[in-house]
Amino acid sequence: MQEKSINILGIETSCDETAAAVVADGRIVKSSVIASQTKLHEKYGGVVPEIASRAHIEKIYPVIAEAIARANVTKDNIDAIAVANQPGLTIALIVGVTAAKTLSFAWDKPLIAINHLHAHLQSAMLSEEKLQLPAPLEVPIKGPLTLQGDLLLTGPAVALIVSGGHTCLYDYRSPLQPKLLGHTIDDAAGEAFDKVATILKLPYPGGPSIEKAAEKGNPNAIKFPRSMLGRDSLDFSFSGIKTAVLYYCRGQDMKGENKVDSMSARQIADIAASFQAAVIDVLVKKTQRAAKKIGARTILLGGGVAANNRLRTALQKMSDSDVPPKKLLVAPKQYCTDNAVMVASLAYYKFKAGLFADLTLEPKASG
Ligand SMILES: Nc1ncnc2c1ncn2[C@@H]1O[C@H](COP(=O)(O)OP(=O)(O)OP(=O)(O)O)[C@@H](O)[C@H]1O
Ligand SMILES: [Mg+2]
Repeated sequence: MQEKSINILGIETSCDETAAAVVADGRIVKSSVIASQTKLHEKYGGVVPEIASRAHIEKIYPVIAEAIARANVTKDNIDAIAVANQPGLTIALIVGVTAAKTLSFAWDKPLIAINHLHAHLQSAMLSEEKLQLPAPLEVPIKGPLTLQGDLLLTGPAVALIVSGGHTCLYDYRSPLQPKLLGHTIDDAAGEAFDKVATILKLPYPGGPSIEKAAEKGNPNAIKFPRSMLGRDSLDFSFSGIKTAVLYYCRGQDMKGENKVDSMSARQIADIAASFQAAVIDVLVKKTQRAAKKIGARTILLGGGVAANNRLRTALQKMSDSDVPPKKLLVAPKQYCTDNAVMVASLAYYKFKAGLFADLTLEPKASG
């Protein structure tokens, strides 16, 4: 007899997207609703926490209602409520956490707390049609993962999360307990894209703007620094490259005006392409280094910057040519930036493992 499927309602409000989704069995997306606040933050060139929080309050109920309606389910066939409670902007997270706790209490459904970064990582697992995640997990997992389906993760995978606030490498042996191998010591990769876009006076959000401008530029035009932080380091640093772009645009003494206004579109494109190439170079080399260190045969890529085509192609090239070659799993584009599908998907594995939260759940800025 076929087992009844598990429907989880996922809620995401960690930054500037109010999102809800219903996902069955961790990978059948029944609905995904996202209310983006990009327009509200555009004129400030970055996310303003108070504005984000107010917008979440306005949108959270209609977004959840829409996700449930589109999934064609009722509260009776929802098995659990999952919410990203860390890391993120506390005054944004609290809106989703409060909504999830309220529904959990009112509907008498189990509550599941999700780490937003682990959810980004989970989105990479949504890429593989044939891949089925490990069956109900006991944590911690020791030894090789045995997966059903065609793909076997024999041994650990390396997961690279590149987002607006984080750049992390993980040793991934279980969806429930990725182990941090390295992270950025200053700016996140997405943050660097956003800040360099501001320097170049490109539209917000910066990542897609830089990628678009870079299409017409020469990635070898300017040699921006690639900070590797020593031979064995798996940490990242992107503040130096951001400063290098600023120096390039304002002169070494920083006394000059930002010369961007007098630059040609071609010059801007060259800066964007050279900056993008330097960031991608570091991301790819560090991922390769991490894979070698832990003997990984699989690489996972997720987070907003994973939407970047150049990064996807460069990681694919490295994965194919590395010795031994690696299997690359990249988050589908619609699940790279914040969404609730990744929350509900990861929650399935917590549900199966019986890892529930209670009504004392709080939002946490770090994680
Ligand atoms: N095509 C792209 N190329 C490069 N960067 C991109 C692209 N698309 C989006 N980004 C960047 O991704 C980031 C947003 O990603 P995401 O939504 O995952 O971040 P966040 O949720 O704000 O941060 P975090 O997940 O760390 O809390 C922004 O910095 C944005 O500029
Ligand atoms: Mg995010």
